[in-house]
Amino acid sequence: MIDTFDLVIRHADVVTAADRFTCDIGVRDGVIAALGRNLAGGAREIDASGLLALPGGVDGHCHLDQPMPDGLRMADDFFTGTRAAVCGGTTTVIPFAAQEKGGSLRAAVDDYHRRAEGRAVVDYGFHLIVADPTEKVLREELPQLIREGYTSFKIYMTYDDLKLSDREILEVLSVAREHGALVMVHAENSDCIAWLTDKLVGQGRIAPKFHGLARPAAVEREATHRAITFAELVDVPILIVHVSGKEAIGQIRWAQGRGMQILAETCPQYLYLSAEDMNHPGDDGYAGAKCVCSPPPRDADNQEAVWKALKQGVFSVFSSDHAPFNYEDPQGKKPGGKPQSFEHIPNGIPGIETRLPLLFDGVRHGRLSIHQFVELTSYRPARLYGLYPRKGTIAVGADADIVLWDPEVRTTIRNAQLHHAVDYTPYEGREVIGWPVHCFSRGEQLVASGQYLAPAAGRGRFLPADAPSLV
Ligand code: URP
Ligand code: ZN
Ligand code: ZN
Repeated sequence: MIDTFDLVIRHADVVTAADRFTCDIGVRDGVIAALGRNLAGGAREIDASGLLALPGGVDGHCHLDQPMPDGLRMADDFFTGTRAAVCGGTTTVIPFAAQEKGGSLRAAVDDYHRRAEGRAVVDYGFHLIVADPTEKVLREELPQLIREGYTSFKIYMTYDDLKLSDREILEVLSVAREHGALVMVHAENSDCIAWLTDKLVGQGRIAPKFHGLARPAAVEREATHRAITFAELVDVPILIVHVSGKEAIGQIRWAQGRGMQILAETCPQYLYLSAEDMNHPGDDGYAGAKCVCSPPPRDADNQEAVWKALKQGVFSVFSSDHAPFNYEDPQGKKPGGKPQSFEHIPNGIPGIETRLPLLFDGVRHGRLSIHQFVELTSYRPARLYGLYPRKGTIAVGADADIVLWDPEVRTTIRNAQLHHAVDYTPYEGREVIGWPVHCFSRGEQLVASGQYLAPAAGRGRFLPADAPSLV
């Protein structure tokens, strides 16, 4: 007898952004071919009783093998980064092809494809980073790249090697409006940070904890407001990325309340880390470098504000902002191999594998509904970044990117058990309830009972993006 399906997942408690139902899932040629009771046989069958079947996570903000200045190096490439992603329930990643100042955007994209090919374990798209919006970039490269499926790009209001002037931001937003792309904004005021940094360093206050004092909430609030103003002038939606707390949230609520399409993203570090973590006693206080990211983690009040805004729908997406630098590494958190002044610590922390378990734990503690979880981590990023309905849901015709969660299992996060190539996790020792135990990408099982099955590197495919769907 010929099997009807390649794979049947039986008795699945399916949860999407909108629905919950129990059925069998039939998969053929990597695609969900049927949802129903008592489906015919599959070449492989798995019993999902007691587990939740969720669409695979879409991580719409992570950094993998991104070329770095000044002798820095990211610890994760497309192989280790996507391996860690799938072990944490994420089956699609969207990292950044970053233009260098003075360089071509097209060259950055071509280079980034070379870095991904033969390495990625799950499917991936690219955002662009526009660091040098010359006439050629604005009039030729960007429009052509948008047509080819790179429909979202990040711009920076800080970092000397990346930041744009206000005028340049307006020019980039205009191109996005004309060609239907989505701009993601890193909103922090560069001059304020430089001034505060110089003052702190001049006073000899150089430990990692001073990173937070150099980037206070007001600096993020001002830039968030300015970005919103630019979006208003150009009349184009924008997405404010990695929002850290109540000051920036206040600006976003204000804009949304005026009917503007100001979208927002937050990340696990703003729920689970605080300024105190940058004041870690280990390694003479320098171990706080493990939590240095921008904007910086703030305090308990701000964590509460982020949880509340997540529940109330202020945020559209919840991403990792995985920025993988080793701690014990001259090319990582200890540039030059020795503790450094905070201004030289590379910004960013790892989190691609822990993103979903940390938020799922919030669901188990009543912070969010399970539908909100799916919406923030899979459905909305798939829609915003032009991958829906292929990704972001469990429906007939969608890719069979399915994650079976054990909602009861308790796990203590230990770096030794994670699958990234970073030598630490900022969440070491934290217990979470719920873990993704079986993960399928286009119907192929990559994780079974929590064990990584070591599929062929390079099986992950590039996904050209359609136009963003903002709702
Ligand atoms: O500190 C951070 N967030 N590093 C990663 C790069 C970025 O700005 O997202
Ligand atoms: Zn950023
Ligand atoms: Zn980032």
